Amino acid sequence: MRVLALSSGTSVDGIDVALADLNFAADPSTLELKPLGHLEVPWDAQLREQILASLPPAEVGVRQWCALDTRIGQAFGEAGRIGLAELGSAELVVSHGQTLFHHVAQGRVLGTLQVGQPAWIHAATGLPVISDLRSSDVAAGGHGAPLVSLLDQLWLGEQPTAVLNIGGIANLTLVGGEEISTGDTGPGNCLLDAAAAELGQKCDAGGALAADGQVDSPALEALLADPYYARDFPRTTGREYFHRDYVAQRLAEAGVAVPTGNDLFATLTELTARTIADAVTGAQRLVLSGGGARNPVLVDRLAELTGEVTTSSELGLAADAKEAYLFALLGFLAVHGLPGTAPAQLSDPHGPRATGAQRPVVLGSLTPPAPAPSVEQSSVPVERLQVVDP
Ligand SMILES: Nc1ncnc2c1ncn2[C@@H]1O[C@H](COP(=O)(O)OP(=O)(O)OP(=O)(O)O)[C@@H](O)[C@H]1O
Ligand SMILES: [Mg+2]
Repeated sequence: MRVLALSSGTSVDGIDVALADLNFAADPSTLELKPLGHLEVPWDAQLREQILASLPPAEVGVRQWCALDTRIGQAFGEAGRIGLAELGSAELVVSHGQTLFHHVAQGRVLGTLQVGQPAWIHAATGLPVISDLRSSDVAAGGHGAPLVSLLDQLWLGEQPTAVLNIGGIANLTLVGGEEISTGDTGPGNCLLDAAAAELGQKCDAGGALAADGQVDSPALEALLADPYYARDFPRTTGREYFHRDYVAQRLAEAGVAVPTGNDLFATLTELTARTIADAVTGAQRLVLSGGGARNPVLVDRLAELTGEVTTSSELGLAADAKEAYLFALLGFLAVHGLPGTAPAQLSDPHGPRATGAQRPVVLGSLTPPAPAPSVEQSSVPVERLQVVDP
């Protein structure tokens, strides 16, 4: 089954599009994923500005949320159309949407909101769309994130492996042992991007700014003291916590000055590397994906702290598109009625999940809806409705 996946992460840097051919092997306990290609569709600059201006700490009203849901749905629809034209045909589209809010309180997830109305994606592509991949895990008591645990366990779990994706937020999954654990380590690129935006730049390209600065120890220690990093996995976060004013606010509370010039970039790069390395335990190898893999200063520092770093590209899934291929897998599992998360304990495959959910659940919603399993599909057009006495 050919599945086209669409996603935009917390960096809001572009819509990732990937086409995968997914099939059960002759032995149906093995699933084959053939990556057929990927591309990134840039956001319309004005829409991107609107999304960024709507993220916390900004307060926006429901009119703005409604407009974003529509415009992001239309943008994803257009990205889907481009994907089908350039990568090839598909039978199913899976859309992660754009996260606008991930609501965590006292270490529990109360809700998570990904917008980009799937009706627009269906209208643009003519294909069934799986969307809203996170909510059913949240409703089962999980964090709804990271959703990569099953892919990482099925693909890389034959040996103890730390699987890391450095997007806006960095997430880590530890597989290959009896316990499977997953969580957001903390900021990936988001604080670096916010600092770069102050200079009119999108990111610290190639880590050039960090390479030219010195780590400011008092500032680093104050940032590392954030209680978020002391929480056990599964823990999740987002830009509502690590927002653009986070560094200034946190350091002001600690009575520590914000590092100046490129020292800020060196310090934030070290913060990302240290908080990731602190969470990597018991792994023989680290497999990296996400835009952070393009920052050699960050990758070199991670290698110093954790050992050898392999990219997911070297193992067959492009580091820039691993998350999009993940969503293709989750959509395939969804339409086959199969759960999309790994168990927390390998020996209890139907028990609690690595995300913290109490039970395995099928992820996602389908647009347009399929007939309910107990209902036979009718091909006769409905022409009238009679209200009858009960
Ligand atoms: N050449 C580069 N040098 C340094 N950083 C880069 C480079 N290219 C990309 N990045 C960083 O990677 C980020 C984008 O990464 P990615 O697309 O994986 O994140 P994302 O869209 O936030 O995904 P998610 O949050 O779902 O993991 C950019 O915002 C930027 O900070
Ligand atoms: Mg991205």
